[in-house]
Amino acid sequence: MSIFRTKSVSPNAFCDTGLKRCLSAFDLTFMGIGAIIGTGIFVLTGIAAANQSGPAVVLSFVLAGIACTFAALAYAELASSVGGSGSAYGYSYAAFGEFIAWIIGWDLILEYAVSVAAVANGWSGYFENALTAIGLGLPAMLTKGPIAGGLINLPASLIILSLMGLLILGVRESSRVNVAMVFVKLLTITVFIAVAGFNIHPENWHPFMPFGWFSEGSGGKPIGVLAGASIVFFAYVGFDAVSTAVEEARNPQRDVPIGIISSLVICTVIYIAVSGLLTGIVSYKDLNVSSPVAYSLQLLGYHWASALVATGVITGLTTVMLVLYYALTRIILAMSRDGLITPRLSKVHPKTQTPIPIIVGCGVVMSLIAGLVPLGELAELVNIGTLAAFVLVCLGVIAMRIRQPDLPRPFKNPFGILLPVLGVLSCGALMMFLPMVTWFRFLGWLAIGAVVYFTYSYRHSHLGREQALKAE
Ligand code: ALA
Repeated sequence: MSIFRTKSVSPNAFCDTGLKRCLSAFDLTFMGIGAIIGTGIFVLTGIAAANQSGPAVVLSFVLAGIACTFAALAYAELASSVGGSGSAYGYSYAAFGEFIAWIIGWDLILEYAVSVAAVANGWSGYFENALTAIGLGLPAMLTKGPIAGGLINLPASLIILSLMGLLILGVRESSRVNVAMVFVKLLTITVFIAVAGFNIHPENWHPFMPFGWFSEGSGGKPIGVLAGASIVFFAYVGFDAVSTAVEEARNPQRDVPIGIISSLVICTVIYIAVSGLLTGIVSYKDLNVSSPVAYSLQLLGYHWASALVATGVITGLTTVMLVLYYALTRIILAMSRDGLITPRLSKVHPKTQTPIPIIVGCGVVMSLIAGLVPLGELAELVNIGTLAAFVLVCLGVIAMRIRQPDLPRPFKNPFGILLPVLGVLSCGALMMFLPMVTWFRFLGWLAIGAVVYFTYSYRHSHLGREQALKAE
């Protein structure tokens, strides 16, 4: 048996598997927007402008957006041809074999679980502010975990448990709640764009690139537009989550590529508009705060608009958690069905048609982590993990073109393998601008994954067993 055993692509990838096929192209696009717009634009834009890029943060968004576009096109091609709900995990299984697939699945578990727990921490800060504003503030002990001097971050834990309940109820119900909340966040962004559009002070855009393209800041930390791009990349994380919905899409080969590409395009346009306007209405130096978009409106004296944006942040972060949590459960479901994680988890409830054991297991673990551990800086781990997945998905397109040139590809990248090659280069380059400590943490997580693979998954793999039986 080999760790490079590969799964062949079969038409079954698009057949029914007990999950409910109810998502349209519209739902999938809103799912993408739900996962994408959140902390990145509402929080990191200001931090990256103040510390890394200056007003040229808009260029950081453009560069990160270009790298993501190459990756999105690669995802779209594989989602329409290889299918399977495991997303990058499933594609890697077909393109590179089981071990690489396991590593990328393990990496995606980190990406999605850390994102949800980290965003829950940010969400709880905004929620607590809103409660305090109406005189219902919680005791300090219940707003931070033991490491930060409290008991538990109760709002962070409870929001994850509420989303757990929603995901158990069904994917249709979850998608409806997502669509409603995405409308609210798009409305608040529209209000920001309208108000900011009338309050531009062009002198704020000078100097445009105070930290240059790339240089070293204090303590050797990378600064400049390129380093800014690797930070604001977090704002794009999530469009890949759409590719985990292949088994729940009504017409996956057509609608999943539409969902991935249109959500990314819509969000990129929004990001460029918001980041350009934000640095035009106040000086980038004033933006190093936890809620720069709401804060800038306050500085301009628009208190009502600032309060509205804060509401948009709360709903926006909720949909990010909802969709990334959903994606996490579908990746684990795919890995468990393949026997790489215990198959006991992969039961789908006949009535709700959702994988309840996985939803509950992930919810309890993430709510404990979010309640007890402050996760701020771990968000950079999400970037490196996601970029690694993007690199592999682009390589996967190239490998599948070579290995199965005649595979039907309802969506195919133009210009041969040029775009996936550019995807590998641009996503790989963004990884290089991340701090060393992030690299060590990431490699540490992958090393743990390798140990789990060789002590459990390798021996329990269904594919491995099938191949061993055939060989006998
Ligand atoms: N893209 C998501 C956010 O910005 C993860 O919060």
